[in-house]
Amino acid sequence: MFLRNAWYVAAWGGEVTDTPLARTLLGEPVVLFRAGDGTAVALEDRCCHRQLPLSMGRVVDGGIQCGYHGLSFDAEGRCTRVPGQSAVPPGAAVRSYRLVERWGWVWIWMGEAGAADEGAIPDWWFMDHPDWKVVPGNGGKPIHTRSNYELITDNLLDLSHVGYVHPDTIGSDTVVEFPVRTERRADGVVMTRLMPDVEPPPFHRMAGGFEGNVDRWMIVEAALPALIDVDVGSAEVGGGALEGDRMQGIAYHALNAPTPETATTTHFFYAHARLFKTGSAEMDEVYRRDFYRIFMEDVAIVEAQQASLDRAPEAEWIDINVDAPGLAMRALLRERIALEAAGDNAPPGA
Ligand code: FES
Ligand SMILES: [Fe+2]
Repeated sequence: MFLRNAWYVAAWGGEVTDTPLARTLLGEPVVLFRAGDGTAVALEDRCCHRQLPLSMGRVVDGGIQCGYHGLSFDAEGRCTRVPGQSAVPPGAAVRSYRLVERWGWVWIWMGEAGAADEGAIPDWWFMDHPDWKVVPGNGGKPIHTRSNYELITDNLLDLSHVGYVHPDTIGSDTVVEFPVRTERRADGVVMTRLMPDVEPPPFHRMAGGFEGNVDRWMIVEAALPALIDVDVGSAEVGGGALEGDRMQGIAYHALNAPTPETATTTHFFYAHARLFKTGSAEMDEVYRRDFYRIFMEDVAIVEAQQASLDRAPEAEWIDINVDAPGLAMRALLRERIALEAAGDNAPPGA
């Protein structure tokens, strides 16, 4: 079961064009396209006549025409025309979904239309700020992942894995020696790990040209349902980065939005925004190429976990200290899904 009254990333803005894009989100078939004025539209991808996916049709007059018998639907999903007859049958419509374009992404609300609140989209302002350089993940397309999306949230809320999964790039043995702090918020969880005066990982040493040790940070803010801002970097020792001045050194954010396709598959959207060497095409290429490889190292892990889970769904999990933030996020999501199922959509305390 998924949290429905929540924002999910449905697509990169550039993926939505006047050619219909079919994408299953939260188990539901959705078709995305741009109406004549450029507005992004999302409709149920199932014609109400004989159930052909509307994505097999074409965009006409700001709406979509079914590719079987030519019924036309407008941006609100209402059937506006039936070829060969003057009247449209009562009730001829498909569901339409609320969309918001922000931070380069098309966000979708698949719950109750009246409950949609744009303010709940995270404030990832650095995705759209001249001082920051953004490199879209996987060339501006999601990575299709054969795993449940919460395994990706777990992965990002537990960066102790970098020493084992990414030893050549962002990993280092010292990470696990520093404890994590877990902060629970009404709509998410924050994991903080501060590492004063440590050896930089290979990528930070290369990118920052550090000669000696650095102050390194990892601050991961996960918001419901699975919107994860990974704020990481390294700076000169004692320069104030660990006291909160993180606009220095090798500072970057990895923005992650794993959107469930089904219970066991995910559209994994990500992007990087960095505050150093912003004009460097070479550094852009490092993010495009090397971080794609780093992300695929994680994808291999979560897909292998999912295969194990599929084989033995009842197998027991034991927990260790580094699981605290991920467990807190899982508990929060469970709680909110249960509230939603009980018909109470208001967040606790609202
Ligand atoms: S199935 Fe869409 S018009 Fe017939
Ligand atoms: Fe990783």
